[in-house]
Amino acid sequence: MEKTCAVILAAGDGKRMKSAHSKVLCQVLFKPMISWVLDSCRQAGISDLCVVVSDHGQEVEQLLPAGCATAVQRERKGTGHAMLMAADFLRQHRDGHVIMLCGDAPFVDAQTIQGALAQHLEQGNALTVVAAQVEDPTGYGRIVRDGAGALAAIVEHRDADEAVRAIREINSGVMWFRCDFLLEALEKLTPNNAQGEYYITDTVAIALAMGRRAGVYLAKSADVVLGANDRQGLAKLNRIARQRQLERLWAGGVNIPLEDGILIAPDVQVGEDTTILPGTILGEGTVIGKGCVIGPNSQISHSVIGDEVTVQASVLENCQVGDKTRLGPFMHVRPGSIIGRDVKIGNFVEIKNSVIGDRTSVAHLTYLGDSDLGTGVNVGCGVVTANYDGANKFRTTIGDGAFIGCNTNLVAPVSVGEGAITAAGTTVTQDVPADALAMGRARQINKENWAREKGKYHKR
Ligand code: UD1
Ligand code: CA
Repeated sequence: MEKTCAVILAAGDGKRMKSAHSKVLCQVLFKPMISWVLDSCRQAGISDLCVVVSDHGQEVEQLLPAGCATAVQRERKGTGHAMLMAADFLRQHRDGHVIMLCGDAPFVDAQTIQGALAQHLEQGNALTVVAAQVEDPTGYGRIVRDGAGALAAIVEHRDADEAVRAIREINSGVMWFRCDFLLEALEKLTPNNAQGEYYITDTVAIALAMGRRAGVYLAKSADVVLGANDRQGLAKLNRIARQRQLERLWAGGVNIPLEDGILIAPDVQVGEDTTILPGTILGEGTVIGKGCVIGPNSQISHSVIGDEVTVQASVLENCQVGDKTRLGPFMHVRPGSIIGRDVKIGNFVEIKNSVIGDRTSVAHLTYLGDSDLGTGVNVGCGVVTANYDGANKFRTTIGDGAFIGCNTNLVAPVSVGEGAITAAGTTVTQDVPADALAMGRARQINKENWAREKGKYHKR
């Protein structure tokens, strides 16, 4: 097996994005562009990675996988100069092959990386350029071939004459090199061009002058070149990525009758016969079972949802939900919650860091925080766990089959035993034994005629 590694260029500043952050951190479907490129490398089996960052690249470094090397390019002097900054990394991999990728072109896929490598090795090339055929080649480096169809040069748009500008086969910005050749070629680059930059693309002419082979691998899809320079370009990438995710789900038997406002992160899994309705955003780390109805207007991230679950106009983060459970409309599950099977949680309920047992019902206007509820519990309207004393959080425990009356306050730490009942309006401050009734509220008195004599409200 030949040794492989990758260098990803990410020293661009993204001025046209008008962002305080590096351009490669701009997200396509909730995922930074550079993470798309890193994931494609990993999927292609390349694990030795180096990212070239600018001298304010700390934010980029933070999201790199463990073991990923970095090189700093202090001045932006071109793609060849950026690669030269990674020379130490390249020397460590001198006996292998390196792929150069751009951190702002997220759609390069493992298939292209591997296909280009296979051809690069088979042809014994010193370098192999990944090319694409595009409708509008403006701005890209053109692939110039000789009479026999072999790669002769890459000419940048700004350095090209009319005849070369008419070529629609372009450099995607992705190239495989033999590391030993690249180290030699980088030393020979000069900034003699319209932009006064060190162009990595000049390594083609250098290879040919050295009598080495330089090849072209034509990508199956022109999307591999797509990058974003401004917000409008980023929106275009999002539209393309979104359409691909919809097509993936449709192919998997997911029912999305109308795709309006639906966004699905690339790693989301959804089972057959699940329906996703407009306005639904499924963020990363989400797995949804079969036969569910999700939406309209729901957001789910980092959550595992069972089969035949309904989620209507609700927000779920970092939670687990069992089969046949019905959530919403208008409820919110916050991180750390485990919700059982056949549970009903309805209007204006917030659940945080709680376990809700099977067949439990929490139908209206309730806050359950840091709570453990058993099976078959009924939580009435307006129940609140007072889980926070201003300094610490405490848990509330409610046993199987308990009945929590409307407007009960549970002042944690407190527990309600199995089968116990709390009367409506009770403030529970002491543990309630199993099967007991807890009633903790002022006894009502009626003052006869008080309202007629002293009350201000007399309308009949
Ligand atoms: C480059 C190629 C061009 C190709 C195009 C594909 C060169 C000379 N030209 O052009 O043939 O068609 O990509 O998109 O290579 N970068 C750095 N440091 C630098 C310069 C660039 O890290 O000093 C990074 C950028 O952040 C970006 C990538 O390299 O990720 C490509 O740079 P960019 O300026 O977009 O290259 P182009 O001029 O578009
Ligand atoms: Ca570019």
